[in-house]
Amino acid sequence: MTSMLYVLPDYRRFGVSSMMLSLQYEKLRELVKKGENVDGMISIPTSNASKQQFLKLGYTEIYTAPPSIYKLTNGQQWQSVDPEHPTVSLMFLKL
Ligand SMILES: CC(C)(COP(=O)(O)OP(=O)(O)OC[C@H]1O[C@@H](n2cnc3c(N)ncnc32)[C@H](O)[C@@H]1OP(=O)(O)O)[C@@H](O)C(=O)NCCC(=O)NCCS
Repeated sequence: MTSMLYVLPDYRRFGVSSMMLSLQYEKLRELVKKGENVDGMISIPTSNASKQQFLKLGYTEIYTAPPSIYKLTNGQQWQSVDPEHPTVSLMFLKL
């Protein structure tokens, strides 16, 4: 399980995180071939960049939470202040 993906800005767009994710995919594929009951990989990207990345790796977007579902404890609507992290999606890659 990868809990958080982060690549230092100077090293982005060189395929670093895609390589890490592909290695995980290959390891899980081997387990499936040996009979392990694993359906696939789940990803919950929050950034535009990582969502694009998971799409490129073959993940399917299952659900994207509309901003309207986020509420603060005082009942007010939550709004992302970072346009690079506008919302959260649930994505799936079958093994
Ligand atoms: C998201 C992140 C981990 C990607 O790491 P990376 O090593 O640069 O990704 P890769 O080089 O493997 O990119 C693979 C593909 O993902 C997509 N991608 C990556 N960064 C992108 C960006 N900023 N905008 C659009 N697409 C992007 C592209 O399709 C890219 O392929 P290409 O370079 O051939 O076009 C990195 O940008 C990062 O650390 N961002 C800040 C933290 C973050 O957003 N983490 C994820 C939170 S859920």
